[in-house]
Amino acid sequence: MIVYLNNEFLQLEEAKISPFDRGFLFADGVYESIRTYNGKLFYYKDHLKRLRKSLNEIRLLYNETEKIERIIYELINTNNINGEALIYLQITRGTSVPRTHSFTQEDVNPTIFISAAPLKRNEQEQKEGIRVSLQDDIRWLRCDIKSISLLPVIIANQSAVDAGGKEAILRRNGLITEGSHTNFFAIKDKIALTAPAGPLILSGITRMIVLELFNQLEIKVKEEFIKADELKMFNEFFITSTIKEITPVVQIDEWIVGDGKPGELTHKAQNAFDELVENY
Ligand SMILES: Cc1ncc(COP(=O)(O)O)c(C=O)c1O
Repeated sequence: MIVYLNNEFLQLEEAKISPFDRGFLFADGVYESIRTYNGKLFYYKDHLKRLRKSLNEIRLLYNETEKIERIIYELINTNNINGEALIYLQITRGTSVPRTHSFTQEDVNPTIFISAAPLKRNEQEQKEGIRVSLQDDIRWLRCDIKSISLLPVIIANQSAVDAGGKEAILRRNGLITEGSHTNFFAIKDKIALTAPAGPLILSGITRMIVLELFNQLEIKVKEEFIKADELKMFNEFFITSTIKEITPVVQIDEWIVGDGKPGELTHKAQNAFDELVENY
């Protein structure tokens, strides 16, 4: 595998980072996961916009975002990825020797790492749906920043997996925020609800696309928090992300949703999404 690290295309084994990198020491950095459809980067401009926002919010000055797109396509080519690709991109605030919390902008030399790997849709999950597990949302109050500091969601996701689920659905003060690495939608009376954009969720690109698709399909959407203790009043759920696309949720912990099969509006969303990516 060939990866990109700080201006170089390298064999993975040759890609080395200082133990004093602030990403390693403090999780002081941000990231993006981007994918292709038909070999073309999907909603790249929106990912770039979110990356710039994350960089800006953590005061990480990185002025070379313009060249990222070209690097990504070169990585896809040099790794001979013929089907779809998943791109992982991370920018940290570089090294701090000795380890100090504060930084001086003039001394910052960011570390940028990008990898590309083949990506295949999980057909079974798409068709049959998944089981999820409710977990506490113990993250900080800036979940809108795509920070590499992911320990709270790693623990939540692992707890969900231990409980027999595929994803953790997070609950903060009795309200559902989102999944550990996905956004969450609930449907009742033909109306879809999803948590509002703001500091308590990561505003997903797929979430945004689904909102647009529902709008086109004239399906009403409310950007409102769903109360955890009212989940059983809903009859359909799904999660969204770049990798999971639109994945139906058919079981929440021990509760089987409806007849245990993906719901009608979930199907409509999936079909509209498929049409969008086919023509992308
Ligand atoms: C916490 C969280 N919410 C939502 C998402 C989905 O975002 P997107 O649709 O842009 O992949 C992610 C993706 O990594 C995430 O980490």
